[in-house]
Amino acid sequence: MSKYTELLQRLEAEPHTWLVTGVAGFIGSNLLQTLLSHGQRVVGLDNFLTGHQHNLDMVRELVTPEQWERFRFIEGDIRDPGTCRQACEGADHVLHEAALGSVPRSLEDPVLTNSCNIDGFLNMLVAARDAGAKSFVYAASSSTYGDEPTLPKQEDRIGKPLSPYAVTKYVDELYAEVFARSYGFTTIGLRYFNVFGQRQDPNGAYAAVIPLWFASLTKETPVYINGDGETSRDFCYIDNVVQANLLASCADDAARNKVYNVAFGQRTTLTELFALIREEVVRHKPEAAGAEPVYRDFRAGDVRHSLADITRARTLLGYEPAYDVRQGLRLAGDWYDAHL
Ligand SMILES: NC(=O)c1ccc[n+]([C@@H]2O[C@H](COP(=O)([O-])OP(=O)(O)OC[C@H]3O[C@@H](n4cnc5c(N)ncnc54)[C@H](O)[C@@H]3O)[C@@H](O)[C@H]2O)c1
Repeated sequence: MSKYTELLQRLEAEPHTWLVTGVAGFIGSNLLQTLLSHGQRVVGLDNFLTGHQHNLDMVRELVTPEQWERFRFIEGDIRDPGTCRQACEGADHVLHEAALGSVPRSLEDPVLTNSCNIDGFLNMLVAARDAGAKSFVYAASSSTYGDEPTLPKQEDRIGKPLSPYAVTKYVDELYAEVFARSYGFTTIGLRYFNVFGQRQDPNGAYAAVIPLWFASLTKETPVYINGDGETSRDFCYIDNVVQANLLASCADDAARNKVYNVAFGQRTTLTELFALIREEVVRHKPEAAGAEPVYRDFRAGDVRHSLADITRARTLLGYEPAYDVRQGLRLAGDWYDAHL
């Protein structure tokens, strides 16, 4: 039996209380769904800056009424210390997802990104420490590798940040480390690599590439590839990310006070990704077969290549990503077909 399956069984037998920040967002709502379906008590915090009520409504439909009753939602902002304190009360585990994502958004508005991702993060650290949370796992980012060219990325070898967003995620790691050293409050940072899957937002100027391309191919609008198409990423299906969060929350002391790559460990170029997504869309919409991407200029702040070494997460957390990019796109494709 995998460590993850074992953990889910243990949690079902003895439910814990979890705080999920950013619960109305893509990753947060998927964490909520898994936790509730395994009998956990969940407090969720979100200010709907980029999250949506409809994500919470969808989770409600996917769990039983008894499971849904174990969820309490707080509409509030992590930039307010009192709200963070209130949300952390009684939480065994904190999964801190709330932040403003997107490299281009941070280039447009570095101040807003900074306030949510650094001030908000620090408020959450203080509140979780003061509430005596047993674990604090936070969303770090592969953008922290910046201009370090070595592939695959190993946790201890980072470069200079290429965007305000990357700065904020790196500062979070520094604060987390200092909280361990100064207050003995240990945390785990999960450096996510291009997460995708159900409920990732296809709308808005800062939509991520996978939902955006599903939407464009479905609606027959142009798909743009920034650059020559050889830019590559380690795309990671959402269920792998949920697994890493739960394993990290219940990890032993030796695994704490560290950051971990969370990815599948496979590199896909943007041109390859386009072909894979088109294949999925064609299953539901054969007319998409003839669609071709439009190549345009490279985008500022983007890292050229990204591929994770996931040895540390495998070894110390027992992380075993179950879905590769193709399997994940199949599931995401079915979901976008039903919801776009
Ligand atoms: N999706 C990815 O590929 C990816 C990659 C690396 C890191 N991350 C990180 O993972 C986390 C979750 O990302 P996501 O993709 O689910 O994004 P998302 O935008 O769907 O979710 C973020 C949620 O946080 C909420 N939020 C933002 N600022 C807030 C504030 N000040 N107070 C309260 N709530 C606030 C938003 O309303 C939203 O619901 C973020 O920290 C992000 O930086 C995501």
